[in-house]
Amino acid sequence: MGRKSNVLLLCSFGFILCIAKLALHSHYPNIESFSKKNLQYYVDSPSCKMPKSNPFSADIMKVFKKKHFKECSTDNDLVLSEFDPELRQYRLYIDDGIFEKLSKKVPNATLRCQYQVIGRNKSASYPDKDFTLSDPRPLNQSFLVPKDIDFLSTQCYAVNGKKEIKLLQEDGFLFVQDRLSHNTKNPEGDRPDEESKPNVIILGIDSTSRLNLRRSMPKLHEFLQRPGWFEMQGFNKVGENTIPNLLAMLTGNAEEKAMAQSRFSHGGFIDKLKYIWQRFKNYGYQTAFGEDCGKINTFNYNKPGFKKQPVDYYLRNFIVALETILKTRREFGNVFCLGRKLGFKYIFDFARQFMQRFEKVAPVFGIFWSNSFTHEDFLGATALDKVFWEYLLVYDALGFFNRSIVFVLSDHGYRYGVTRQNAKSGYLEERLPMMFIYVPPWFRKRYPQYVENLRTNQNRLSSGFDVHMTLHHLLQLNVTSMSKFSPNLRASQCRGCQSLFFELPHNRKCSQAGIRDKWCSCEPIETVTNKKHITKVALEVVRHMNQHLEDRNLTEICENYTLKKVVHMDRKIPVTDESVEDDELHTYVISFYTRPTLAHFEATVQWNTHKKSLIMKVDEISRLESYKKHSKCTNDPVIKKYCICIPF
Ligand SMILES: *[C@@H]1O[C@H](CO)[C@@H](O)[C@H](O)[C@H]1NC(C)=O
Ligand SMILES: *[C@@H]1O[C@H](CO)[C@@H](O)[C@H](O)[C@H]1NC(C)=O
Ligand SMILES: *[C@@H]1O[C@H](CO)[C@@H](O)[C@H](O)[C@H]1NC(C)=O
Ligand SMILES: *[C@@H]1O[C@H](CO)[C@@H](O)[C@H](O)[C@H]1NC(C)=O
Ligand SMILES: *[C@@H]1O[C@H](CO)[C@@H](O)[C@H](O)[C@H]1NC(C)=O
Ligand SMILES: *[C@@H]1O[C@H](CO)[C@@H](O)[C@H](O)[C@H]1NC(C)=O
Ligand SMILES: *[C@@H]1O[C@H](CO)[C@@H](O)[C@H](O)[C@H]1NC(C)=O
Repeated sequence: MGRKSNVLLLCSFGFILCIAKLALHSHYPNIESFSKKNLQYYVDSPSCKMPKSNPFSADIMKVFKKKHFKECSTDNDLVLSEFDPELRQYRLYIDDGIFEKLSKKVPNATLRCQYQVIGRNKSASYPDKDFTLSDPRPLNQSFLVPKDIDFLSTQCYAVNGKKEIKLLQEDGFLFVQDRLSHNTKNPEGDRPDEESKPNVIILGIDSTSRLNLRRSMPKLHEFLQRPGWFEMQGFNKVGENTIPNLLAMLTGNAEEKAMAQSRFSHGGFIDKLKYIWQRFKNYGYQTAFGEDCGKINTFNYNKPGFKKQPVDYYLRNFIVALETILKTRREFGNVFCLGRKLGFKYIFDFARQFMQRFEKVAPVFGIFWSNSFTHEDFLGATALDKVFWEYLLVYDALGFFNRSIVFVLSDHGYRYGVTRQNAKSGYLEERLPMMFIYVPPWFRKRYPQYVENLRTNQNRLSSGFDVHMTLHHLLQLNVTSMSKFSPNLRASQCRGCQSLFFELPHNRKCSQAGIRDKWCSCEPIETVTNKKHITKVALEVVRHMNQHLEDRNLTEICENYTLKKVVHMDRKIPVTDESVEDDELHTYVISFYTRPTLAHFEATVQWNTHKKSLIMKVDEISRLESYKKHSKCTNDPVIKKYCICIPF
């Protein structure tokens, strides 16, 4: 919305208010005027007003551009994988017609294909970082894949005598091998009834706010409007990046303390957490986890990963192997193509095979996560929209949505880049990831009260800890209130959090949902774009920091700061009438770099517009990058955070 139309709307609420606001805004010509009444809220209660913002606002549309999706390969597949339902085994076929086409330029060519088995190296010190690769073996027509092979790579060559060899195609294949011991009479009919053990599928896209979903993925968004889908519009992130937010959902504890104490880097720590998939396993589920982009995988980015394979079907080693042995192409800042196929497609094909394979055999719990398109580039999602949507159509045609509870979700929105620097909605965008929950027709019929609650909860404040409780609830749907939940199932970091199938309190506060103040979006906020004003505040912040060094007698060990540049500055807008009493005091959240060494800080400060003075607690500042290297002169964890040690 433009400033002019905003002012007009504002004026229609009352002449006096209008004059007052206009007067106020003359100090801040670039802060969009903000009326409490003409706003719509995702959550609207006395203690939480979570503002809805426009995904198509002019400031963001200026930098928004649909990205073209480039296929990894336009050739047809020479090697195809099929499941033989008679033998209950996979087969690889070679398409001779495709070979004819591909080998035209090689005279008198004959085809030679080979395969290599890929696996997990259990004896490696960091099995998640490694993989095993067998020697090449000849690949014959209609190759029946042995049941102990999970992954393999293939290479096909056009060969003319011994003289000329041309690599035609190389690929990776994954097989969901059924290792259950079956009732021999009816191996396909073992599955417990779907209503008592529904499939649970989590489809995740990294760094996708609900705003960017609407802006960049219209097809996906439209699919998510179908009956049975519910959007948790009051869903707020609980931690900075992927790991705390996923851990909140998967373990009930964001483990930020353990992260700060570097416990994640100790081999085995990651294995010890209590993941929800273990409970699903205990209830007879088959479990799966797949993620594209090996470098930035949730449990592996700057971390050792799992020692022991965490789920029954684990894609990690396959992806690491393909990233190593196949030709890759980067796009949107990450590995995008693994050879001839999109990394994303490996993940979502894995999901399809996993669900298909156990359709009549066992209930399944799976997490399928994509980083490749969206992690670095806020426009990457525009290229992912159609691909993602087409998978949902396939899943629908296969009946997955008749049998499964499905989550389409993200961990957080964009934390840096243009949305944070240039757009007023950046602060919210970072904190409000998308969160959609699907329940199939039978569920809606059998549990109308749960569905009613889910509908109500769409506009209540919720968090990843509630999602965690919802997952627990799916294992015991006959439990009809939180008071009947076993206390040891409660999310350890938010004992009062609850299943989203039960009604959330209307007047819930962030603290009741396990959301710290820093991430809480219950207070509306806008990104300030008036550069002069930003600089004025930032220089004051830096001055306070230098003063603080003096006050704490740290100037002999710590460098004096100078401002390098401000990344963004957000302004909190108080909602409750008590907190507006001091019109002159504004709360800003400011992210900036200082020299020397380009330290990156985020500070929450109060600015007195009248006195042009600042209130700031320097010890509470956040440091946004690793500071190990420059903080060796002190052992105090608080001082370490901001002291740039003077080199001697
Ligand atoms: C292809 O094979 C034919 C007959 O087998 C032979 O006459 C011809 O010389 C071969 N061409 C090449 C380029 O090797
Ligand atoms: C597995 O890792 C161990 C330890 O690094 C190494 O010695 C061994 O050769 C690896 N095995 C395979 C099959 O790659
Ligand atoms: C593939 O074919 C070759 C030659 O025809 C044969 O020696 C080999 O045993 C076959 N391999 C498999 C796995 O069937
Ligand atoms: C899903 O269920 C509906 C209604 O029960 C049925 O009409 C439809 O054919 C099913 N879809 C698939 C693909 O099984
Ligand atoms: C729910 O059902 C399970 C399995 O049928 C049973 O063991 C459990 O006691 C039931 N719980 C409640 C609260 O009814
Ligand atoms: C200030 O720090 C220096 C060096 O770290 C120390 O020698 C000095 O005693 C300190 N002064 C006060 C007043 O604490
Ligand atoms: C520290 O830096 C500020 C600029 O940020 C400068 O004004 C001040 O003089 C410096 N102080 C010292 C002690 O170098």
